[in-house]
Amino acid sequence: MSLRESIESAHRDRQNSGLWRKLNRLESAQGVNIVCDGKPLVNFSSNDYLGLANCDQLKQATAQAAEKWGTGSGASHLVCGHFSLHDELQQQVAEFVGAEKAIVFSTGYMANLAIPAAFLSRHDLLVQDKLNHASLIDAGQLCRADCKRYRHLDANHAREIVQQSEAQRTLIATDGLFSMNGSTAPMKPLQQLCAEDESRLLLVDDAHGWGVLGEQGKGTLAQQGAAPTGPVLMVGTFSKAAGSFGAFAAGDAVLIEHLIQHARPLIYTTALPPGVVAASQAAIRLFTQQPWRREKLHENVATFLRLAKEHRVERLPSSTPIQSVVFGSPQTAQEASKFLLNRGFLVVAIRPPTVPAGTSRLRITLSADHEAEQIAALVRALAEVPA
Ligand SMILES: Cc1ncc(COP(=O)(O)O)c(C=O)c1O
Repeated sequence: MSLRESIESAHRDRQNSGLWRKLNRLESAQGVNIVCDGKPLVNFSSNDYLGLANCDQLKQATAQAAEKWGTGSGASHLVCGHFSLHDELQQQVAEFVGAEKAIVFSTGYMANLAIPAAFLSRHDLLVQDKLNHASLIDAGQLCRADCKRYRHLDANHAREIVQQSEAQRTLIATDGLFSMNGSTAPMKPLQQLCAEDESRLLLVDDAHGWGVLGEQGKGTLAQQGAAPTGPVLMVGTFSKAAGSFGAFAAGDAVLIEHLIQHARPLIYTTALPPGVVAASQAAIRLFTQQPWRREKLHENVATFLRLAKEHRVERLPSSTPIQSVVFGSPQTAQEASKFLLNRGFLVVAIRPPTVPAGTSRLRITLSADHEAEQIAALVRALAEVPA
């Protein structure tokens, strides 16, 4: 079989099993009211939790920075692409999350890919939650350490694995707020496990929790009375609640310095452009200056939960802006998504390998910009999705 024939055959298999993916084409700005593939829709699939991706303050910050600093950063951080703007953002982030130091990465995917490989080598161990984001799973393939996964949220299982190992160094990695089911990691027991032995480190990828959970949106660690200090390293993204782009790692200075020395996806890529950095800075200012955004978001979550209960919409347990309704097969999840599309809602079906086989679902994300009536209309439609 030729290369082309085998690719086409794999495509047919993918189509027949309901796993074919397609690009949804946005013809408006990101937000709650969008035009997608020519159709006006109410969007329940974006990670723009606070409605910052198209807000005036971020747009002005981007435009002003581009005017002053230009559009491209021109080089990697360690050559001459690291501007004073990047430094200011790093200090702002570190202060905000309560860490000694922070470093910016070009994406959250790259931050997660970088960290295990930077800290671990052949005689080491990477232990991670079974439902961690793909970037952390892929990081396991890139680093040379032994890789193990523990049952979702089960810190005791993580402990068993760690204690059975004779690894020299151990990195335990978990999402903070899990992107596909809205659960949150048990920070204190994982932190405790790492604090017990100086060869251990905890990596918390709080791509979705940062800006959303905890006091002022400091994230899942803060919500549970923890912080990125000592053996805890935190990753956050600017691409979700912050309405911008890029990511950071925050923690003790010695850990961050180690990343500057060894994190290949940081070293060998061009630094974020000035306009993007300025938008991220503006977003962090708004986290504190506009608490109403987070308050409205959580009010919207409460409205969704109340109405879902009233209409008997079965969903995974979550009190966060990420709500999932599991259908099982990819085809039924796709059909449910199409049903909602015909009612004017964008709720994308999430299928394997993004979620485990048999758990294809509708992932509903709430935003501060949703109106109560939009949420009510979605819940009514959800209750009518044919079984
Ligand atoms: C949990 C989690 N971590 C990391 C990432 C990657 O972040 P980025 O989009 O900045 O690459 C995502 C989503 O994209 C995510 O959902």
